Amino acid sequence: MLKPEIGDGEATLADPAFRADVLAGFASRPRAIPARWFYDRRGSELFEAITDLPEYYPTRTEAGILESAGPAIADAVGPGRAVVEFGSGSSAKTPLLLRAIAPAAYVPIDISGDFLRQSSAQLAQAFPGLPVLPLEADFMHPIALPEAVAAMPKLGFFPGSTIGNMIPSSSVDLLRAMRMWLGTGAMLLIGMDRIKPAEVLVPAYDDAEGVTAAFNLNLLERINRELGGTIPVDAFRHRALWNDMRARIEMHLEAVRDVAFTIEGRRFELAAGETIHTENSHKYGPRDARILLRAGGWTPIAEWTDAGENFAVILAEAQAARTAP
Ligand code: AVI
Repeated sequence: MLKPEIGDGEATLADPAFRADVLAGFASRPRAIPARWFYDRRGSELFEAITDLPEYYPTRTEAGILESAGPAIADAVGPGRAVVEFGSGSSAKTPLLLRAIAPAAYVPIDISGDFLRQSSAQLAQAFPGLPVLPLEADFMHPIALPEAVAAMPKLGFFPGSTIGNMIPSSSVDLLRAMRMWLGTGAMLLIGMDRIKPAEVLVPAYDDAEGVTAAFNLNLLERINRELGGTIPVDAFRHRALWNDMRARIEMHLEAVRDVAFTIEGRRFELAAGETIHTENSHKYGPRDARILLRAGGWTPIAEWTDAGENFAVILAEAQAARTAP
């Protein structure tokens, strides 16, 4: 049953899709809840805090690449494009791109309306004269871009290696959907995190300060807040592991003791040691990244990395009709 929820001083209704994913996720084996549900207000704030952690290299590495490659990116994409950012969040890296190229409009898309409005207002102020047209939407479902950008050539911007949070089949589906939404002549600038030793990757997802642990555990708190759950959050601990076979970091929540609780009146039990899988973060070798883009309907045309080759920013253009063989 939907019920009003008081959170951050604002009454909200639990999202029926959240409810469905949580109930199905707890009932399935292995238990798993999609990572997109991390990002309520608190989760978005915790993610922003993660991006500043010493262990979490992707954000600052990608920002450095965007900064140094700015002129080359501008040369390759040309002026007058509508920049469409998928999952804009706080739009922290966007100014780097917008300053480098001469865009005709900026369309940030995000599921978290609060965050979107706040960051769009800030960007509009920083770039007077640039039309900023925020779109509150979940781009895992079909979206409609604002009419005002219909005739403009598009540059999709998908930074942060957010693509890595999808399993390969879903990432190909999303890339193909982006290609369709952005239209003929579109380009895509995408950030993809590189495979590197587990000794570097694991701490990036299990930091000394415990911010990533709080981010993971906030999912249980959100379930309690929004779905009237009775989960004893202290009965769970954050786990991050490198799954080499699948080239991904996995985050799990592990029960530290036998635990029983209810969510919307349904009872669930976990034995000590059982886990809930909450996130995948895939990493890509240089060829993996290019194959994935091609599978999704995009031809990579340029690529920039940091000196340590820890992270890649790839520019791709929309494929025309499929060519043989
Ligand atoms: C948003 N996404 C790209 C982050 C990542 O690195 O996979 C989410 C994250 N999870 C834990 N730390 C960061």
